[in-house]
Amino acid sequence: MEPGEGIPQQIRQVLLFFVCLGGSLVCSETWRYSVAEETETGSFIANVVKDIGSGVEDLAARNARVIFDDYKPYLWLDPQTGNLLLNEQLDREALCDLTEPCILYFQVLLENPLQFFRAELWVRDINDHTPTFLDKDILVKIPEGTAPGTSFQMQSAQDLDVGKNGVQNYTLSPNPHFHLKLEDSDEGRKYPELVMDQFLDREKEPELRLTLTALDGGSPPKSGTAVVRVLVLDINDNAPEFERPVYKVQVPENSPLDSLVVKVSATDLDAGINGELSYSFSHVSRDIRKTFEIHPNSGEVHLKALLDFELIQSYVINIQAIDGGSLSGKSTILVQVVDVNDNPPEIVIASLTSPIPENSTPEMVVAVFSVRDQDSDDNGRMVCSIQDNLPFLLKPTYKNFYTLVTERPLDRETRTEYNITITVTDLGTPRLKTQHNITVLVSDVNDNAPAFTQTSYTLFVRENNSPALHIGSVSATDRDAGANAQVTYSLLPPQDPHLPLASLVSINADNGQLFALRALDYEALQALEFRVGATDRGSPALSSQALVRVLVLDANDNSPFVLYPLQNGSAPCTELVPRAAEPGYLVSKVVAVDGDSGQNAWLSYQLLKATEPGLFGVWAHNGEVRTARLLSERDAAKHRLVVLVKDNGEPPLSASVTLHVLLVDGFSQPYLPLPEAAADPAQADPLTVYLVIALASVSSLFLFSVLAFVAARLCRRVRAASLGGCSVPEGHFPGHLVDVSGTGTLSQSYQYEVCLMGGSGTNEFKFLKPVISNLPQLSTEREQSHTFLNGFGFN
Ligand SMILES: *[C@@H]1O[C@H](CO)[C@@H](O)[C@H](O)[C@H]1NC(C)=O
Ligand SMILES: *[C@@H]1O[C@H](CO)[C@@H](O)[C@H](O)[C@H]1NC(C)=O
Ligand SMILES: *[C@@H]1O[C@H](CO)[C@@H](O)[C@H](O)[C@H]1NC(C)=O
Repeated sequence: MEPGEGIPQQIRQVLLFFVCLGGSLVCSETWRYSVAEETETGSFIANVVKDIGSGVEDLAARNARVIFDDYKPYLWLDPQTGNLLLNEQLDREALCDLTEPCILYFQVLLENPLQFFRAELWVRDINDHTPTFLDKDILVKIPEGTAPGTSFQMQSAQDLDVGKNGVQNYTLSPNPHFHLKLEDSDEGRKYPELVMDQFLDREKEPELRLTLTALDGGSPPKSGTAVVRVLVLDINDNAPEFERPVYKVQVPENSPLDSLVVKVSATDLDAGINGELSYSFSHVSRDIRKTFEIHPNSGEVHLKALLDFELIQSYVINIQAIDGGSLSGKSTILVQVVDVNDNPPEIVIASLTSPIPENSTPEMVVAVFSVRDQDSDDNGRMVCSIQDNLPFLLKPTYKNFYTLVTERPLDRETRTEYNITITVTDLGTPRLKTQHNITVLVSDVNDNAPAFTQTSYTLFVRENNSPALHIGSVSATDRDAGANAQVTYSLLPPQDPHLPLASLVSINADNGQLFALRALDYEALQALEFRVGATDRGSPALSSQALVRVLVLDANDNSPFVLYPLQNGSAPCTELVPRAAEPGYLVSKVVAVDGDSGQNAWLSYQLLKATEPGLFGVWAHNGEVRTARLLSERDAAKHRLVVLVKDNGEPPLSASVTLHVLLVDGFSQPYLPLPEAAADPAQADPLTVYLVIALASVSSLFLFSVLAFVAARLCRRVRAASLGGCSVPEGHFPGHLVDVSGTGTLSQSYQYEVCLMGGSGTNEFKFLKPVISNLPQLSTEREQSHTFLNGFGFN
């Protein structure tokens, strides 16, 4: 049963009453008809025959027709039947919109007579429209933190239908945050409101999607939906939070500037500026600010200054992150500086003793030093050493102190200086090394006596030197140094206290040069021996000595001296020569000696003058004077011969001797044979002269004496055998009288038997045998003398 069907019935009756009173033409009551909208075209509405009150045949005749007020032909009157039919589908919403009831007024017109009948067509609503939201996407922005209970008006939905077919109810998709509340508007319409049930959290759910459904009252109801997007607006309700409460990082010292230390990061759940973070240090020391910097946006912490483990081993850096709403989060960076072996060991010499005296006892402390390495662990652990092969030891002492001590006594004369390189190496990677050089000098101790370059020196000097002549040098060296090596030379006291050494030689104390103080005479002194000393200036002083032998070299300073025949005697010798003597008869023999030695004493003879040249000849090498031819009666009886004796020196010196010869008649009395010579049959009839020659080993003085003695004997023998007479000077030869050597060697002599074989005129002196032989070991010297005498003149 539709509610609308009852109401128009009542209204029709009221209207009918009113209309009929109004006029005569427009009669009676107003007809009322009703139709649902959207009813099919041609649908039957009503039959008007009865309402008109005439027959149906009348309708066509009277041209009955329907005229709506707006002249639109909504209905058609079938004149045959009187049925009112729907001429077109009616849309209530188009015809009346929201006006209710929707009434279309019309007249049914009849002609002949003209009659009007008022009528109304009530168009009934059907639920042919769904509720519609104008905006299908409803955006609601709600700040988080909004208090529960707050309501938010929603747009209402539209439904073209009216009445209960219009929007009757709203629903909301189930959700924990909102419920829907329906409010009545002033026009009596309902509109929806969102009421918040609990806090929104943008960080959990930044946006909610709800479905708002509008329902009409149709049966069945129609619905329309809209999406409600609840956008939760951020408030700064979250502080930034670092991902770690503590960042522990290890950074090697010596990391380059601008190295990345760590990158910190914080998050903020808020959005927009509330979530925009800025990193910074928080309450940090100036040191940290100098050393590190943090990038406000990236959170990277970089080195601003070089780290030095030796200064600071760790840093505690408080950092914060601040969002745009001034909320902050905190964290800490723990920076541990990692040691790098960047410090070489150091050596500090605390004391150094140099020079150190040689011969010191071992373990003498030379140097004290300390070592240090500022690195840690192995980087700071050290090994200390010196070179091998040095007589020094390194000893660790207190803490990091070392002492350098001697290993054994040092000898300055072996080595005066030691360059010691102290090497300290740490055990880091890479190993770092430091070296320190010290020079230790060894000071001298007087432990070496001066040493002569030779144990004995033999110096040669020619005799007759000028006084103060430099005759040679001795030299001694001392291996010590300084005063300990300063040598002073001196003459040592002679072993023979009578030797006047100090008057003969002197020595330069500084350089060891030896000087002859006076002229030396070879003939007086052939050799001189003494000792010299060398003393250093150490304390106590050390000394040594050497032997010096000075051999005087002979000079030709003695002329030959004629022993026979004697010249200065009161009765000169006269040689007797028988006129019957055959050529080569030995008349005489000139005997001469020379005080010099060697070649200076080699003598040669030559006939300088003769009374009768050609009668006599002199043998150059032995001084024998012999007849050169047979003598005759015509030859004068007396002859005088001058014989020159010359030595072999340079220049040569000479002496001359005069011989007197007397030619006598008859044969000469032969020399008496000596028993020893007579015993030898080969030596028959010789003029034999015994000569006893003493050859002194050192001094020729004795030889002279002996030769003088021999000459005297020879002369006496000749005088005894002839009529002539000779004399021998007594005493010593002038100038050769003093034995200056004082060596006592004069007693060492040789005696020879010398035979002058003058009887046949061809004989010569002959050494027969030594008479006494005291020193057989000097036979070499004796042989030389023999040769000189025997072989003279044949060179
Ligand atoms: C609206 O719809 C809800 C859910 O279907 C219902 O509980 C409520 O009673 C309805 N309100 C009206 C006025 O019809
Ligand atoms: C020690 O070093 C010094 C200076 O370098 C040098 O003159 C000297 O010859 C060195 N001595 C030795 C024994 O190496
Ligand atoms: C130390 O001496 C050594 C060897 O003579 C040399 O090579 C080195 O350069 C020296 N060191 C110093 C620091 O003088």
